[in-house]
Amino acid sequence: MTVLAIETSCDETAVAILREDDGEMGAARHPRLLASEVASQVAAHEKYGGIVPEIASRNHLIYAPRLLDRAVSAAKTQLSQIHAFAATNGPGLASSLMIGASIAKGLAIGFGQRFLGINHLEGHLLSPFFGAETDGENNIKPNVSLIVSGGHTILVVVRGLANYQLIGQTVDDAAGEAFDKVAKMLGLGYPGGPEIEKHAHGGDPKRFDFPRSMLGSENFSFSGLKTAVRYLLPKIRVIPSEAQRSRGTPLNDAVSNASGSLDFARDDKLLADLCASFQQAIIDVLVTKTIAAAQKYRLDRVTISGGVSCNQELRRQMRDASSRKGIEFKSAEPWLCTDNAAMIAFAALLRLRAGFESQVSEEINPNLKVA
Ligand code: KG4
Ligand code: ZN
Repeated sequence: MTVLAIETSCDETAVAILREDDGEMGAARHPRLLASEVASQVAAHEKYGGIVPEIASRNHLIYAPRLLDRAVSAAKTQLSQIHAFAATNGPGLASSLMIGASIAKGLAIGFGQRFLGINHLEGHLLSPFFGAETDGENNIKPNVSLIVSGGHTILVVVRGLANYQLIGQTVDDAAGEAFDKVAKMLGLGYPGGPEIEKHAHGGDPKRFDFPRSMLGSENFSFSGLKTAVRYLLPKIRVIPSEAQRSRGTPLNDAVSNASGSLDFARDDKLLADLCASFQQAIIDVLVTKTIAAAQKYRLDRVTISGGVSCNQELRRQMRDASSRKGIEFKSAEPWLCTDNAAMIAFAALLRLRAGFESQVSEEINPNLKVA
């Protein structure tokens, strides 16, 4: 069985091909990723300070056919050898989702094969079970799943494939969004998460006492944290380094206006402490709530996925907190954490094994929920 998947929910165009050989009865099946192509559009949107849906959509139209060609040739296969075509059908930007879904549907119709519409969030939450460390069957063991990305921060109780219960979500910004917005205030680049992680190295995470919101709830809120950073900057007269200044990305307007007298001397320790303290505030919230949910729902496994789960400090602290409580911790390999089509192909393969398929008449759903 060979599955081709297309992911175009936001500003990344991605195509992947996944194959599993029909093993003997009872033998473990080992899906092999034959190709995984991702084209990032970060540069096209950076100058607008955010994603412009029409530009994303046009770029998907340009990149998707090229990536299809590249993936098919990297996999040394042909489209006629594919047994099912999958695409992300939500949540995401309507004008982006419709490109990948239309292409996958067209291919499924043209080659007389099955089509699967896959929930982007399901792609993320299954991704920790894809990879070398897992058993060949990729059994989805019950777990509390934290999906933490630029668009989502949600906690899900996963009881098995297609058996999901949403138990918490952000009431305002997603964690990744908070990383991106704070990075912008600090004059760092986009995406902000990796920039803040890089600058946090060697910083003192205790220097600034940022709020940890809604700790007693399973929901999340990060806008207060973002505002706390915004109000702090003028007070400490935060200083961008030469490197940031030369990139021409000044501090956020509100900050420079409010302070009126920014001191532009170099102070990299301040920036490191600020990044480390901000990052630690997010990590504390994510770790505390995920572990508390595992205990509440009596599950002995937690998983994390989505772009923010690339963060090494988050992975380390979640692993340590889990092991202190006798909970197993699983995360996807970093390359699988940010948006990609391999996770969509993997979800499609598991769904095909379990007898699911979609109708080509199924519409995309920009507001698709995980449960
Ligand atoms: O999953 P993803 O690629 O796209 C969405 O579905 O949103 O996640 C992108 C988000 C961005 O907000 C980015 O800043 C964040 O993931 N991110 C990180 C790191 N790498 C990416 N956040 C913190 N630390 C990182 N190392
Ligand atoms: Zn995502």
